[in-house]
Amino acid sequence: MNGRASQTDSARAEASARQNWDAGRYARDARFVSDLGIPVMELLGPVSGLRILDLGCGDGALTERLAARGADVVAVDASESQVSAAAARGLDARVGDARRLEFENEFDAVFSNAALHWISPPEAVVEGVARALGPGGRFVGEFGGEGNVETVRRALISALNARGHDGAAADPWFFPSAARYRAMLRAGGFAVESIGLVPRPTPIPGDLGDWIETLAGSFLAVAPETRRDAVISDVRDAVRDSLQRPDGGWTVDYVRLRFAARLA
Ligand code: BEZ
Repeated sequence: MNGRASQTDSARAEASARQNWDAGRYARDARFVSDLGIPVMELLGPVSGLRILDLGCGDGALTERLAARGADVVAVDASESQVSAAAARGLDARVGDARRLEFENEFDAVFSNAALHWISPPEAVVEGVARALGPGGRFVGEFGGEGNVETVRRALISALNARGHDGAAADPWFFPSAARYRAMLRAGGFAVESIGLVPRPTPIPGDLGDWIETLAGSFLAVAPETRRDAVISDVRDAVRDSLQRPDGGWTVDYVRLRFAARLA
């Protein structure tokens, strides 16, 4: 159960809502997220002429690539800052909640990269995606799977617990096993074409502290601002032996869950 048996969907959703997305900061510290999303885009196959929903589009870096390949893309994200950045690329980008999608029978495919682990309950997402697709439509994506960034996640929880906070309750992430997500897709009416975990240790640009501030802000948010640097410092110390490279940089233990499914 990956240490999160007690974290309910609603607690995860609350924790996720504490995450602050700043498109400028994201572009600086997390550009690698979209750069590494190319393999999942390839899983979509040829997209020219297809109408595609990019769910959790972030700043639209991958949406732009889909559009450049001839797809007619609508991009949705919950963050106004990210949607503004995506719209500035000339994309049809809209603020929206992936748990309450209002599209019906509109798309040939729904694509999602590095977003679904932020959104609970996941069943609501699968349901909305199924509704948004036309008959035989595909749902293709990748997000954090079981064991994703586990070393950092554990260290964050421990550092918060040690300072009197409930670290597990601050955890916003849904990182399922392939079996669990396969079952969810099937329950949502999909035939699963492929699904599996892909371990992908990932060198990050810059310091681990920047990664934590940009991508794990939900954890930091439960500590007073004056203590956040100390939490980051505790985490850095705890994971140094496992994640710091001899050159001083950091490689985080990412594990992707990559899947392709078709509406049955
Ligand atoms: C991910 O893409 O797997 C990820 C991003 C931010 C925080 C945790 C995981």
